[in-house]
Amino acid sequence: MGSSLRLPGLVDVHVHLREPGQTHKEDFASGTAAALAGGFTTVLAMPNTQPPITTPRVLELARQAAQAGARCDVGIFAGAGPDNASLLPALAAHSCGLKIYLDATFGPLRVNDLPTLVAHFNAWPGPGPIAVHAEENSVPLVLGMVAASGQRVHFCHISRRVELELIARAKERGLPVTCEVSPHHLFLTGEDAARLGAYGQMRPPLQTGDDREGLWELLHYVDCIATDHAPHTREEKASGSPPPGVPGLETALPLMLTAVHAGRLTLPRLIELMSSTARHIFGLPAAESDTFVEVDPDAAWRFPERGWYTRAGWSPFAGREARGRVVSVRLRGRDVFLDGKLNAEPGTSRVLF
Ligand code: DOR
Ligand code: ZN
Ligand code: ZN
Repeated sequence: MGSSLRLPGLVDVHVHLREPGQTHKEDFASGTAAALAGGFTTVLAMPNTQPPITTPRVLELARQAAQAGARCDVGIFAGAGPDNASLLPALAAHSCGLKIYLDATFGPLRVNDLPTLVAHFNAWPGPGPIAVHAEENSVPLVLGMVAASGQRVHFCHISRRVELELIARAKERGLPVTCEVSPHHLFLTGEDAARLGAYGQMRPPLQTGDDREGLWELLHYVDCIATDHAPHTREEKASGSPPPGVPGLETALPLMLTAVHAGRLTLPRLIELMSSTARHIFGLPAAESDTFVEVDPDAAWRFPERGWYTRAGWSPFAGREARGRVVSVRLRGRDVFLDGKLNAEPGTSRVLF
């Protein structure tokens, strides 16, 4: 028996669960199974589904699918489309935030003209933040929108040193901004992308070694670790036009525990980055004492090629050594994951908001 450590239920503020429309990649049942196996008891799902979650009707459809499938708690983002700014007040009450895509991503959901961007910033009533996929020049563009509008903004998957430096300066000047980084940008670089081919392609892409080190050096300016769990099938990745995105729910905690083991961050800091700060940013319920994750921080193991709970069925980290492993997960008093086995039926958890 290894040693054991208790963490609060983890929160992943950035996952793609593909429902409605692309359930061959993932659905609420399979995605939340992967979440529990990875130590996450709450996930926030992105709106670039088919159709995208840009109207009250599709949001209600997604919430019903989540209610039927969820094995852990799920919140759902509303999406900014080309002409749905007038619908944002109706979307706000039942979503965890507004997602705006400013740069290339998977699927057509994107805002690339200034009037539409301004309309969304003016119309969003909160209380959830505006979350943005913003890369390179889009980062200072959004910082300008924050300064002009006063809206609270959460930057998704920041991947470049210079971007995080800008956000750090904005925070020091008191702008209401937060940000997340993803494990693949903390542990992989463009060199891995060359080795992994399509399995190492995502948006934002893997960056330079200097960018990766920049994320670690400036980690005290980072609010959350979020996986950007973006499942696509092996067939799709092997095709002539592979979609961008990698699954991450089942590898994030072991990777971060490995970093704790290596002395790159402390365990209290890991808990802030993977649970408590996310609850503040998104107004989620406080951690409950009957919901927690037991990990063996000393377990040494190797990520496998197969056998994942995500329907994607693969990982860009396969073959890599990790130190630290999920032993069990308790959700509101129920043992939902124990010794590698899932014990939670679809529809047994909650839809938030
Ligand atoms: O790589 C990505 N995949 N980046 C995104 O922004 C979207 C995501 C997806 O939905 O597959
Ligand atoms: Zn994104
Ligand atoms: Zn994403």
